[in-house]
Amino acid sequence: MNYETLAQKAIDAKKFSYSPYSRFNVGAAILTKSGEIFTGCNIESASFSPTNCAERTAVFKAVSEGAKDFAAIAIVGGPEGGEAQYCYPCGVCRQVLKEFASDGLTVIIAKTSADFRIHTLGELFPHGFGPENLTA
Ligand code: THU
Repeated sequence: MNYETLAQKAIDAKKFSYSPYSRFNVGAAILTKSGEIFTGCNIESASFSPTNCAERTAVFKAVSEGAKDFAAIAIVGGPEGGEAQYCYPCGVCRQVLKEFASDGLTVIIAKTSADFRIHTLGELFPHGFGPENLTA
């Protein structure tokens, strides 16, 4: 699985974004170490706080189907009808990624399937609090 393909999966998932309030569309695609891909979009709510980001939708879909050994995630987002921007995961999503992935998780921040930045979770969420803190 190459980065371009994973980015394209995130772009495809963005089409399902339910974001009538922010009109900011996000898609994500998370790749497991065994090669499975789970996609997600952001899903908003009229009461706002239940809104779920695309990244967490993808992670929760994967975990709820028994997959939690992740290798990479691609994220693409931007205003409805406009060009995608480099859309970095929010703090809550970084925390959720840390729950299941190591610092080495590849995080692909894509505008298109040919234009993306490569990071690791450790770069984006250093010194985080995670499951290892609760195992003594
Ligand atoms: N959003 C995501 O889905 N992922 C991000 O990384 C940033 C923000 C969503 C949440 C909300 O539906 C909209 O984008 C505006 O914040």
